[in-house]
Amino acid sequence: MSQISRGLENVYIKTTSLTYIDGENGILRYGGYDIDDLVDHTTFEEVVYLMLYGDLPNKIQLQRIRVLLNEGYEIPQQVIDMIYGLPRDSDAVGMMETAFSALSSIYGSPWNKVTNRETAIKVIARASTVVTNVLRAKEGKKPRIPEPSDSFARSFLEASFNRTPSTEEVKAMDASLILYADHEVPASTTAALVTSSTLSDMYSCVVAALAALKGPLHGGAAEEAFKQFLEIGSPENTDQWFQKKIVEGKARLMGFGHRVYKTYDPRAKLFKRFAKQLSERNQEAKKYFEIAQKVEELGIQMFSQKHIFPNTDFYSGVVFYALGFPVYMFTSLFALSRTLGWTAHVIEYVEEQHRLIRPRALYVGPIRREVIPIELRG
Ligand code: ACO
Repeated sequence: MSQISRGLENVYIKTTSLTYIDGENGILRYGGYDIDDLVDHTTFEEVVYLMLYGDLPNKIQLQRIRVLLNEGYEIPQQVIDMIYGLPRDSDAVGMMETAFSALSSIYGSPWNKVTNRETAIKVIARASTVVTNVLRAKEGKKPRIPEPSDSFARSFLEASFNRTPSTEEVKAMDASLILYADHEVPASTTAALVTSSTLSDMYSCVVAALAALKGPLHGGAAEEAFKQFLEIGSPENTDQWFQKKIVEGKARLMGFGHRVYKTYDPRAKLFKRFAKQLSERNQEAKKYFEIAQKVEELGIQMFSQKHIFPNTDFYSGVVFYALGFPVYMFTSLFALSRTLGWTAHVIEYVEEQHRLIRPRALYVGPIRREVIPIELRG
């Protein structure tokens, strides 16, 4: 009998030079560089170059990436109108899907080794405009296109909130973009790869990835994790909430557990550091940071024996909240960053390893039946 791997666990669908994960030891590297090193010593733009061209850029190469990103922010008015035409209470990632479907109709083009990387950079820049305007539409604000600057993170924050962000905020946003940029082949990247395997265009790959990212077991977890902290409301309620909800209610602790990491997710440590820094100047965020720390302690006590630890989504919400983002935007922020990983993986697949992805399902239904005319069916 054929073997079925439920959830495709431990099935390898491609080779990659992009991201290395050692789930046992909690190691994450992009192109051989430790995630901590990248967060401390590079910017998102440098990581864009690393993922798409295979190494960190020199100054001239970095400048070229900045120019391409800055040139890519414009999107057609019809796409802006589409975002603003949706009801304000629409799901933010759903709004991104709508915008990217429209962009695929307008810009979807055949794969081409000469232009694939520049297309990916434009996709990333356009994602910034889309996410900014999803937020602004939902908040009832006028459309705004990110303005060219020397920092993708700064342009994004400025356009989102109509204010000049502090250096600390730009650094935290930049770090978040790096931390969520890629994670090998989770459900969303796999959805993008399946789509690319039919040689559908890059924007359509992003639509497929967004659809998969939206679920609470994947990208939606940061929102779900933070909602737990909102529900707890104050640090002194944490023990009672944990006992009732997680111990007695047997609910899953959101922001904990990972298919690959069997130890502390290295991204969670870095998000925790930025959450702590930002919350020192923001009383509300500080409260949620304290709650999160208490939940983390209780979660580790209860689940560490099962190798279940905080994942990247546990503290990222506190960072996003401290930056001023509403909870409903957290998954879209993840998507903005992961657009880099999605595009880098599909390029790697299409250029180097292309084959149509077409698995099988093992049929277990009735072998053969005769159709009974409808009037004779019971
Ligand atoms: N809380 C409580 N129990 C958990 C949790 C959790 N967060 N995660 C796993 N478990 C338990 C399961 O109940 C199960 O227990 P059992 O064997 O006694 O039945 C066991 O661990 C294995 O769980 P699975 O769901 O089969 O493991 P899987 O590898 O599919 O889990 C997943 C990965 C889906 C992420 C899971 O840990 C989970 O649901 N976490 C909460 C949601 C979350 O935070 N998702 C974000 C993931 S990271 C990301 O997408 C960026």
